[in-house]
Amino acid sequence: MKAIVVTDEAAGTSGMTLAERRAPEPAINDVVVEVRAAGWVPTELEWPSTWVDRAHRDRTPSIPGHDVAGVVTSLGYGTTGFSVGQRVFGLADWHRDGTLADYVAMESRNLAPLPDDVDFTAAASLPISGLTAWQGLFVHGLLQPGQSVLAHGAAGAVGTMVTQLAAESGAHVIGTGRAADREKALDFGAHEFVDLDNDALEDVGEVDLVFDVIGGDIQRRSAALITPGGALVSVVGPVEAELVDVRAVDFVVEADRPQLMGIAERVSDGRLRTNIGTTASFEDAIATFNSRERLKGKTIITVRP
Ligand SMILES: NC(=O)c1ccc[n+]([C@@H]2O[C@H](COP(=O)([O-])OP(=O)(O)OC[C@H]3O[C@@H](n4cnc5c(N)ncnc54)[C@H](OP(=O)(O)O)[C@@H]3O)[C@@H](O)[C@H]2O)c1
Repeated sequence: MKAIVVTDEAAGTSGMTLAERRAPEPAINDVVVEVRAAGWVPTELEWPSTWVDRAHRDRTPSIPGHDVAGVVTSLGYGTTGFSVGQRVFGLADWHRDGTLADYVAMESRNLAPLPDDVDFTAAASLPISGLTAWQGLFVHGLLQPGQSVLAHGAAGAVGTMVTQLAAESGAHVIGTGRAADREKALDFGAHEFVDLDNDALEDVGEVDLVFDVIGGDIQRRSAALITPGGALVSVVGPVEAELVDVRAVDFVVEADRPQLMGIAERVSDGRLRTNIGTTASFEDAIATFNSRERLKGKTIITVRP
């Protein structure tokens, strides 16, 4: 099969090659998916899991990519719940060969059925960003209707999902970002917008939940705005801000089938819009990742049109 392969951590995306690899065999409880579309997160070549397995052994050459939408081609020993030919989408294991390939083997629990009216490109944009938003807001942030959310990076891949899911749940959403992000953040449902370069973050007043995708000084300043009993949820590493009577959670997104189904259902019925900035063919993928232009929104590679 064809796959995008990385071997050199220091080289970043410029070290990627499109290579021939042996197609994966399904292990116990695995599903092999013929990849139709794969999502890309620009930071993933910085994650240790791209380079080592769970025992910290070098696993290069590795295949990046974790968002997937495609069709089941085979099942491992003991796998239940899926059938060959079924449309699926999901989140591949961080420490295994990923989805920038013709085929990926992944545990069936990391997949969900894909409704017929959600296309593969849309579906591949959802697992990481949608699940991150869902888990940060409802599982870790324990968001309640009527509460307020400070959604950092509200025009980004995660931020647009945070904004939409929080607003749908009845929260008041204050999106943040750069000046140029204002219109997009409001269009995705933010009730207010703070331009972090020009507006005073402190003018926001008290909020119940800060969803942080930026960290550093923005996180420290945001922490001071959280109402007692509120929460600071970070997806960019351990919380460094000083907190009094505020719950802090930093987490890495996990696959969850009911949540994936909830996300797909919302795309089907129009409650949730995707935020796809760039789509490229498999052949153009490496050039796209290496483009000097800042990729906005989710980048999707159409592995098999
Ligand atoms: N822990 C987890 O499970 C998990 C899951 C998903 C993502 N993440 C991490 O979360 C972060 C965001 O991911 P993403 O996919 O949403 O990225 P993204 O699409 O690039 O969105 C980030 C947004 O925040 C904005 N932003 C960043 N720094 C800013 C600053 N100082 N001031 C104003 N705006 C700023 C960006 O604007 P510009 O594009 O103009 O910089 C962009 O609009 C990444 O670091 C990613 O690795 C973690």
